[in-house]
Amino acid sequence: MLNSRRARSGLLAMVATGAVLATSVALSGNADAATTLGASAAQSGRYFGAAIAAGKLGDATYTRILNTEFSAVTPENEMKWDATEPSQGRFTYTNGDRILQQGQSMGAKVRGHALLWHQQQPSWAQSLSGSALRSAAINHVTQVATHYKGKIYAWDVVNEAFADGGSGGRRDSNLQRTGNDWIEAAFRAARAADPAAKLCYNDYNTDGVNAKSTGVYNMVRDFKSRGVPIDCVGFQSHLGTSIPGDYQANLQRFADLGVDVQITELDVAQGGNQANIYASVTKACLAVSRCTGITVWGIRDSDSWRTGENPLLFDNSGNKKAAYTSVLNALNAGGTTTPTTPPTTPPGTPPSSTPPPSGAGCTAAVSLNSWDGGYVATVRVTAGSSALSGWTVSVTLPSGGAITGAWSATNSGTSGTVGFRNVDYNGNVAAGASTEFGFQGTGGGPGTATCQAS
Ligand code: XIL
Repeated sequence: MLNSRRARSGLLAMVATGAVLATSVALSGNADAATTLGASAAQSGRYFGAAIAAGKLGDATYTRILNTEFSAVTPENEMKWDATEPSQGRFTYTNGDRILQQGQSMGAKVRGHALLWHQQQPSWAQSLSGSALRSAAINHVTQVATHYKGKIYAWDVVNEAFADGGSGGRRDSNLQRTGNDWIEAAFRAARAADPAAKLCYNDYNTDGVNAKSTGVYNMVRDFKSRGVPIDCVGFQSHLGTSIPGDYQANLQRFADLGVDVQITELDVAQGGNQANIYASVTKACLAVSRCTGITVWGIRDSDSWRTGENPLLFDNSGNKKAAYTSVLNALNAGGTTTPTTPPTTPPGTPPSSTPPPSGAGCTAAVSLNSWDGGYVATVRVTAGSSALSGWTVSVTLPSGGAITGAWSATNSGTSGTVGFRNVDYNGNVAAGASTEFGFQGTGGGPGTATCQAS
């Protein structure tokens, strides 16, 4: 862990290349300027957050800055797999709950971080593989997202699954070796467990247009086209002494896919450009209407994981640095207002390869992602020659099978023959068009489904 962390820090300085885009804006005479990061970001509907550690909440300087300045929190380590499931099936939420309570007491958003990651896995998970690991991973997602159901603004469902370098492909890991569909299975399980949380993919070295970010982009585009539930992409933005010149353009191209974007772990090596780079990141987020907020990865330099790089907005004593002022000024200079988007509404579904039914009514096609002992099902509902104003789908499960969660539909019953009814936003389907819903279950899944207009 320590070695890879060191390697990461070294890498950061090398990978972040490109020109500094902008200088900070002085704001003399802006009578409406807000005086804290959170309040300034709120002027355009955004949040400004910090990663925090449960063990530091007793430090008076730390909590004073936290309570005053920030409107979102992310647990730095407390909701990771090793922290929440130290032995298989035994879940410990004490420290995660402390972060949640701190966030709630501030009226702040809480970003959940991170359900699945190749690092900071408990040792029992590191020694699993294949279907045993897949089941354990999906169970982990389900259990943790269920524990925090309704309380998390956005979850980093999967963290750092893409490889560095020019391949644009996935990183090798025990999770990846369970099958390329592990990421979508995780997102579906997270949606089933907590339909209100925005579900994010989060990574580093994806801050400009490059092979790695394009790999992520292609995955997100594919997920959106197939109805895999994804709502946001996190850009960690652990930056060195420069910022990619296409930083804003990169955020925008993801936003154009129909997901929110967030700066999730911002820190910038101290040097001549630190304040300017912070301002450039802030302005880029403000210029992208679907950039919903910025999180810095710690409060004071002494709290940073990048020991010795002084990459944060407050010095070791808790004093505001020049970088703080440049962020505050950029926030007060304003930007696009973020649209309020419903968190879980799936986008318009692409044309189906299945021909629509010839008559009125509807058809339903099931596709299953199964593993030993469980599955995630995606069901495509296609309207016939008349538009639907509501639909029900029925499936029959093999004996012993049970449904453990559904999204974009409401189920009646969990075993035997189970009915699913549309929810508010997907009952209306134009003639020949399609919509999707899904469910997760134990045992075997259904092979077919029947659809009825209602
Ligand atoms: C870091 C924490 O800050 C450290 O305390 C811990 O030792 C290692 O992990 N990318 C991520 C974060 O997604 O979870 C990492 O946090 C930093 C890199």
